[in-house]
Amino acid sequence: MQTITIEAPAKINLTLDIKGKRSDGYHELETVMHQVDLFDRITLEPRTSGIEIATNSSFIPLGPENLAYKAALMILSKCQPGVGVKIFIEKNIPVGAGLAGGSTDAAAVLAGINHLYNCRFSRQQLLEMAAAIGSDVAFCLFGEYFEPRPAELLSRGATAMARGRGELLESLATRIIPYILIVKPDFDLSTAEVYSELDLSAVEEFPDTGNFLQVWNKGDIINISVYMANVLESVSIRKKPEIGIIKSRLIKMGALTALMSGSGPSVFAIFPDNEIACRAYQAFKNEYQEVYLLSSYKRGD
Ligand code: C5P
Repeated sequence: MQTITIEAPAKINLTLDIKGKRSDGYHELETVMHQVDLFDRITLEPRTSGIEIATNSSFIPLGPENLAYKAALMILSKCQPGVGVKIFIEKNIPVGAGLAGGSTDAAAVLAGINHLYNCRFSRQQLLEMAAAIGSDVAFCLFGEYFEPRPAELLSRGATAMARGRGELLESLATRIIPYILIVKPDFDLSTAEVYSELDLSAVEEFPDTGNFLQVWNKGDIINISVYMANVLESVSIRKKPEIGIIKSRLIKMGALTALMSGSGPSVFAIFPDNEIACRAYQAFKNEYQEVYLLSSYKRGD
């Protein structure tokens, strides 16, 4: 059987609003998620038994705590119990960053094993498995995986409105944001901790999701920035003021907007042109190890 390699892109949250706390302990989300051109590469190799993870990163677990491992275990037990897989994760997405690095690896494993072992699960079945693994995994699977060359599965870039825990997805028009700068500060934040400390009555800035969608649908990438906000900043910036400082500096350097992604701590900024974006990239690169200048993720037509 062949080996396959899949691109697993990171996401940013262009808006992130929370409507309240649910009886299951999770929070009711309304968030626009968007895949960017920063991706891990997942290589899958069939094995007669056992799940083995190898990686170039020293920051990710190799056992069942890894979402990619959970994904492999789940889909193999439903498709071909007893068989195994070797998963090589080329880690390029910062870990614990709010960019869905672990979730996107799990999504790629589901799509890849479905293909490799000819499991024939439908898109809906795969999305259900994804949601059971983690709140962001379904979105990461939402970009369509396809096969331009026999040895590779790529994902088409996705933008979607996510509601519920993050698993109720509605596809949005494809738009390319050309100049995105991501700065990951040198600390991590626990997603569970950030959510648990959220006090909606203390939030000062909410996204205007209705207007965001109107402008997005028109293709007006410059003006989306007016309507973007992330309510989780109210917690993360209190815990780590450096996030707020990075945001203000990015705005001063000419960004249209700068926002934390997910529960943080990564901050992304949208720039109006390449020259200003490159200047900001250079300035932050002198201070931070994980800084990326990129555009939206786009493959296929
Ligand atoms: O689903 P996942 O394991 O990725 O979520 C991590 C944590 O983030 C959850 O344990 C929960 O505390 C919090 N969360 C939440 N509401 C969501 C998504 C995540 O409270 N919609």
